[in-house]
Amino acid sequence: MQRFQDKVIVVTGGASGMGAAACRLFAAEGGKVVVADIDGDLALKVAKEIGGRAFRIDVAKEAEIRDLVAFAIEGTGRLDVLFNNAAVGHSATGRYKMASIVDTPEDAWEGIVAINMKGVAFGCKHAIPVMVAQGGGAIVNNASIQAIKGILGADAYTCAKGGVVSLTRSLAVDWGAKNIRVNCICPGPIATPMIQALLDDPATGPGMYADVPMARVGQPEEVARVAVFLASNDASYVNGAIVPVDGGMSVR
Ligand SMILES: NC(=O)c1ccc[n+]([C@@H]2O[C@H](COP(=O)([O-])OP(=O)(O)OC[C@H]3O[C@@H](n4cnc5c(N)ncnc54)[C@H](O)[C@@H]3O)[C@@H](O)[C@H]2O)c1
Repeated sequence: MQRFQDKVIVVTGGASGMGAAACRLFAAEGGKVVVADIDGDLALKVAKEIGGRAFRIDVAKEAEIRDLVAFAIEGTGRLDVLFNNAAVGHSATGRYKMASIVDTPEDAWEGIVAINMKGVAFGCKHAIPVMVAQGGGAIVNNASIQAIKGILGADAYTCAKGGVVSLTRSLAVDWGAKNIRVNCICPGPIATPMIQALLDDPATGPGMYADVPMARVGQPEEVARVAVFLASNDASYVNGAIVPVDGGMSVR
């Protein structure tokens, strides 16, 4: 099935985890994929593997998002799909401390919110005018189970992801009439570099999925398939949906 033949697709955070899995699926279905990531070398590696293009970006910076959109539309003038997926979280290499608000330094708050929420908002800001001009498009935002269920010890992350869920709803209302669908996924614990250190630690590993009725973590492809569905015409009447991909964790 070639649901994305000749469609131009941007995946932020496309170098790793769910983003890389989505890049592979979009490309396998004919998409012209831009792998956008702050890790330029890894983005290039994924882009080479799938026959796409790489773009190094810090999504916290609006000027770089503007440049990313200009790069994506080069040659075609089109941007059909934006998967706003980049974020920082619990990874051992993460720049910011994940903590309760009482232990969150101001720089961590500002950094996490700038990447995880503003990055999504400004991605939409620069993609939407292109989508309006071409007659439509699809945006998929990657939030988290933490936006819909109380989870300890990562309050800046939780606030930012809650903002992504709310923004998804308002943009879906704002732009639906222009044939732009905006949807959001909320993954549960997924085996990616973001949480791999926590999963590998016997003190924290099993606790990561203790509340998951399916009693396991998810794989990045299991999330990417839902993101790709929401971006595709198979989801042509799905707009403003907040979709948990969490083995049932949100309903426990
Ligand atoms: N892994 C989980 O358990 C989990 C659960 C819920 C939600 N999520 C969300 O899923 C999304 C994908 O995360 P993942 O688990 O695949 O993690 P990951 O760490 O494997 O991938 C995240 C990617 O984002 C990139 N990135 C980080 N900061 C960036 C920036 N400022 N600009 C551009 N790129 C940047 C990283 O370099 C990396 O390639 C994120 O939005 C994350 O918050 C993850």
